[in-house]
Amino acid sequence: MDMLLKNMFQALGKSRSANRLAKKYGLRFGAARFVAGETIKQSIDAVRRLNEDGRMATLDHLGEFVFSSEEAEESANMCMQTLDAIAESGVTSNLSLKMTSLGLDINRELCVNNMKRILSRARSHNNFVRIDMEDYAHCQVSLDIYRELREQYDNVGIVIQAYLYRTVQDVTDLNGLKANLRLVKGAYKESADVAFPEKKDVDENLKRIIRLHLMNGNYAAVASHDEAIINFTKDFVREQGISKDAFEFQMLYGICEDLQKQLVQEGYRVRVYVPYGVDWFGYFMRRLAERPANVWFVLKNMLK
Ligand code: FDA
Repeated sequence: MDMLLKNMFQALGKSRSANRLAKKYGLRFGAARFVAGETIKQSIDAVRRLNEDGRMATLDHLGEFVFSSEEAEESANMCMQTLDAIAESGVTSNLSLKMTSLGLDINRELCVNNMKRILSRARSHNNFVRIDMEDYAHCQVSLDIYRELREQYDNVGIVIQAYLYRTVQDVTDLNGLKANLRLVKGAYKESADVAFPEKKDVDENLKRIIRLHLMNGNYAAVASHDEAIINFTKDFVREQGISKDAFEFQMLYGICEDLQKQLVQEGYRVRVYVPYGVDWFGYFMRRLAERPANVWFVLKNMLK
């Protein structure tokens, strides 16, 4: 049953017509639990509330289905406006983005140019940009572009997914760049040719790369709601005498709020991933696919 729901949410998230319909009707069915709003102002207000109790943020302007260079440039402009709004409001947040929304599927050069515009703007505000990792088909090109950007910019990081077999090698190779990595389990549906099908193997691999990256002396963002992973990280840094400034925990907006606050109280750096924008539907479906139990939460909201 769970697998059926998971597949259904994954398919709906990719459907253009479902996305179009959702856009027309606005944040509904409990999506506001996971998405901070549709406008920059709403997203900044959400970040301000998080900052009040010591949580940092990373803002993500949701943009799916970019098919023209104009749409990709528009999406890059939204990223720059978000960076400006962060600077103007004085909130503590950096930016996360997906390179497909900047034209990666249209033309590599277009995407790289958009990335450079965004990174230059971020640098002028003394801010940082994280490249989210998308499905396996985009993995190699994303890492290649990341390497290219690092030649000019040190305010850029990327994400590494523990479910991929190639991951330990990638983390090893990125050590030379002193890369700032967000380490995650991985959210896309991948084949057993490229990714561990069993959750226990993914969990073990995540622990392996957390260990490896921190022991290499590089900054790590451990992005998981899994208490076993969080406790593993806490124990490991304590044993190795690694400073609490050498890493941060990251979680998604609206998920495990109590745990987020508890970690702040324990003195850890905590950053919340705050998505916003009118294109919220695909993101919302991915969160439901991750945890089909959330479907009851959605149904309750529909009945209200
Ligand atoms: P796991 O799935 O084992 O969940 C552990 C527990 O967390 C669950 O039992 C539940 O309590 C809670 N939980 C997890 N997901 C939930 C949900 N949707 N609703 C309610 N509770 C939930 N992936 C990717 O491929 N590319 C990327 O760039 C990113 N970026 C990213 C940023 C940040 C800040 C986070 C936290 C995650 C990502 N991810 C991601 C997603 C990541 O790959 C993964 O799919 C999710 O974090 C879920 O895995 P967990 O590590 O939380 O563990």
